[in-house]
Amino acid sequence: MKFFVVTLFEEMFHAWAESGLVGQALKKQNFQMEFINPRSFTSDVHQAVDDKVYGGGDGMAAMFGPWSEAIEFAMQKEPSAQVIFLTPQGESWNQKKVSEFLQRKPSQEMGIRSFVFVCGRYAGFDERLVKAYADHEISIGDYVLNGGELAAMVVMESLVRGLPGVLGESSSFRKDSFGEEGLLECPQFTRPQSVKGMDVPSFLLSGHHKNIEALSRAISIVRTKNRRPELLEKAQISSKELEAAEKLIRQLSEEERDLLGVNS
Ligand code: ADE
Repeated sequence: MKFFVVTLFEEMFHAWAESGLVGQALKKQNFQMEFINPRSFTSDVHQAVDDKVYGGGDGMAAMFGPWSEAIEFAMQKEPSAQVIFLTPQGESWNQKKVSEFLQRKPSQEMGIRSFVFVCGRYAGFDERLVKAYADHEISIGDYVLNGGELAAMVVMESLVRGLPGVLGESSSFRKDSFGEEGLLECPQFTRPQSVKGMDVPSFLLSGHHKNIEALSRAISIVRTKNRRPELLEKAQISSKELEAAEKLIRQLSEEERDLLGVNS
């Protein structure tokens, strides 16, 4: 997978791209990244990449010229690349979209699967840029950031995690919260067994794998119901299955249920 990033602030990406799993994946060439600065496509002394908006007021917007040339520069290198504009007005990004983007198979002649992330600054883009180039407009949430860079990192990291060979255990991508089934993950614990008066739930110490799996799933279901009821509706858990999960977690002590977030 290759990411072209059209941005005025390449330096924002450096620490992220060098750290943790993303850093390892980049080193192992699980994905590649190339930065393109619209300022390189200006010819005036000020290297202007934005201008006042028509219609009055003091707003500024990304100018068509340098941004379109930057996008086209990427497209010449990878004509099959999908162009993604990061904007608060875009479609909401979620784990389902991550899977869809990862599954989109390039055809034989398409070459490497590539994305061009266009990270605007200022009040936004000249709308004609979006019309001319965007395959997707994506928002990472209903709030406004100073630009698309952080949003691009969020989207890229969620995609990188799903690439083959990036996560150690191949099933952990599917088991993550919002994974295949759209449920929240069961809480996890590590040593010490007891801390600040809180004990690791005893079923996890039993060594009884079938039981651990069944209870973990029941906890996932009930925790999702308590925290994100709208996700449970989408997850297609039948009322019978929910009832069975609720019955199973009654095996746990009051303290355990409280710790696991499954008290009703
Ligand atoms: N640019 C500014 N705010 C954004 C958001 N919430 N999502 C994506 N891109 C953005």
